[in-house]
Amino acid sequence: MHEIHGNPMAMTKAEQYESLLPQLAALIEHETDWIANFANTAAALRQVFDFFWVGFYVARGQELVLGPFQGTVACTRIAWGKGVCGAAAQHLTTFVVPDVEQFEGHIACSSLSKSEIVVPAVADRQCLWVLDIDSTELNTFDNTDAHYLEQIVTLLVDKHGTYLPTSLST
Ligand code: SME
Repeated sequence: MHEIHGNPMAMTKAEQYESLLPQLAALIEHETDWIANFANTAAALRQVFDFFWVGFYVARGQELVLGPFQGTVACTRIAWGKGVCGAAAQHLTTFVVPDVEQFEGHIACSSLSKSEIVVPAVADRQCLWVLDIDSTELNTFDNTDAHYLEQIVTLLVDKHGTYLPTSLST
């Protein structure tokens, strides 16, 4: 059993991500099931940074469907192109939103959420799923978060590829 270590008081945000990355790699190394690894990744990010909400939405047809997450109850389905998640999935690029009220079409799963970052997992010009993180403060996320969260997303894409089965028979 792994424990995630970090010392937020003495570390910059970049140092916290640098410390987390190899721990996450070790955490998912011997587990083959994507649900387990996505769930622990969400937990590790929430544990280290105390984010309000951390989770995944998985592309299923013309929708994004809620996957493993840590935080309050959330919207279960997001139409393609809708909200920050849908926009990131459609445009295949990371969205950093300093103030969600200024983002047209933002989907408020919680009124407490004030800023947000969404990183899409892309393979062959297709969005497979997105990593979504919400904060109760304005301006929480910047290029440092984007840089390291994109590495975490790549780690999971490399491990689990382009197909995330949900059925026991597949
Ligand atoms: N705010 C997101 C919806 C998901 S929740 O934040 C968990 C959006 O606008 O896509």
